Amino acid sequence: MSSEKEINEEEARENLRKAGYSEQVIEHWLHPKNLGTIDKNECDGDSGWYTGPCGDSMRIFLKIRNGVIQQASFISDICIGAVSAADALTEMVRGKKVSEALALKAENVIKELGGLPAQEEHCAKLATITLKKAIADYEKYHQCPWKKPYEKK
Ligand code: FES
Repeated sequence: MSSEKEINEEEARENLRKAGYSEQVIEHWLHPKNLGTIDKNECDGDSGWYTGPCGDSMRIFLKIRNGVIQQASFISDICIGAVSAADALTEMVRGKKVSEALALKAENVIKELGGLPAQEEHCAKLATITLKKAIADYEKYHQCPWKKPYEKK
């Protein structure tokens, strides 16, 4: 017998399918793995809030050791495209070198998601731009880590 929660989730999935979302998008949206922050003592790259042209915002956090991304997480406005793109992208970069993460484009994220509705393809761009900002923050401080406590709150 199905619980009320399972029935509600199946209803939500059906509605999202009808709205044109892929199974991958629906899964990231309903069960994001990387939603949240990284403790500031562990965080090596913080994009800060970035707002895209549509007015939605995102922030990405990175934990990087020896040039390899160990952990990535995000917080974002409630937009299905942005949450699913950020969740997919933060999964994709885990275990990658910083240079490999930098090379990822919105198209790679859209492919990973099995597509996004045309009106939400820009959400993937928001995620890749925000990731680049988090990497830029890492690169700014990793040469001179002693500056971080002085310049960041
Ligand atoms: Fe603009 Fe998703 S980021 S609608």
